[in-house]
Amino acid sequence: MAILVTGGAGYIGSHTVVELLNANQQVIIVDNLSNANVIALSRIEKITAKSCIFYQGSVLNKALLHKIFTDHAIEAVIHLAGLKAEADSVCKPLQYYETNVTGTIILCQVMAEHQVKKLVFSSSATVYGVPDGLPIKETDSTGATTPYGQSKLMVEQLLADLHTADNQWDITILRYFNPVGAHPSGLIGEDPCDIPNNLMAYICQVAVGKLKELQVFGNDYLTPDGTGVRDYIHVVDLAQGHLKALAKLSSNSAIATYNLGTGRGYSVIEIINTFEQITGKAIPYRFSARRDGDLAAYFADVSHAKTALDWHAELSLETMIESSWHWQSKNPNGYRN
Ligand code: UFG
Repeated sequence: MAILVTGGAGYIGSHTVVELLNANQQVIIVDNLSNANVIALSRIEKITAKSCIFYQGSVLNKALLHKIFTDHAIEAVIHLAGLKAEADSVCKPLQYYETNVTGTIILCQVMAEHQVKKLVFSSSATVYGVPDGLPIKETDSTGATTPYGQSKLMVEQLLADLHTADNQWDITILRYFNPVGAHPSGLIGEDPCDIPNNLMAYICQVAVGKLKELQVFGNDYLTPDGTGVRDYIHVVDLAQGHLKALAKLSSNSAIATYNLGTGRGYSVIEIINTFEQITGKAIPYRFSARRDGDLAAYFADVSHAKTALDWHAELSLETMIESSWHWQSKNPNGYRN
């Protein structure tokens, strides 16, 4: 039996596939390569000395999904394929709702037709909107502020409704905090197509000389040093979380939601200082206005994942930074060398 990973060639997908292959799972990937590179697949093979089956295509392509489910014995699906840039989603709402919401509907329709009802879904801490309090618990209220966040919330709702209608469905929703870092081999990592939106990717490109300086968005937040605080989690820990979620799926028919984070927040200035210490690279930066939609502080209560999934993040901020830099310095242009 195989695990289908949608979006398996992307940043989180490639790391998850490595962990699955290392655990001797058979893996099938479907990815349209809209924000991923096919070279990641040969790197995965190099890391694991194992191969997976790859289909290039979108989750909107129902005929392709049917073919995949017909040709392979699929046990469960890890659904990572989706668009993920908050600001971009404000300009392209139709594209975000189509890919993220319609894509999930089509995937679930095909899964149901083939009697495959085990699903791990990639959601985001963005669904909490302005948090009720800190740390953020899974039971806190939700309220997304962008089409991207709304699309994740809509999918969470449709999965809950699907489980109500047919309780044979086994569904785990993972709400990621801020994934950073790269595989220790330096062979796979985050490879933004454009100028990075996210902090760690931006810092790495400043350090490697591709970007001149970092803008720190806001230094007047109510945080210890005035800059934004986030819960950064190593992508390898995150990938492991998916394996724990899969293991749990086989034991009961339920729907469950988990935060995946470390439970600890770091400010932008702490990230810059730690990056400089570890890499010996200076990160020139200047303070600029707050970025629209940003919040002061955001970090997870991770106790539910610890108790119910037997999972917790193990890798330190130092390891996150070391591995991000290892990847970036070995691959200054990402996969496009
Ligand atoms: N930041 C800067 N300069 C930059 C980029 C970011 O100062 O060039 C700051 C932000 O203001 C924020 C922190 O660095 O305080 C982290 O910003 P990121 O863009 O890396 O991450 P966000 O927390 O804004 O958002 C990310 C994902 C979202 C997801 C969210 C969940 O991009 O999709 O984490 O926690 F929903």
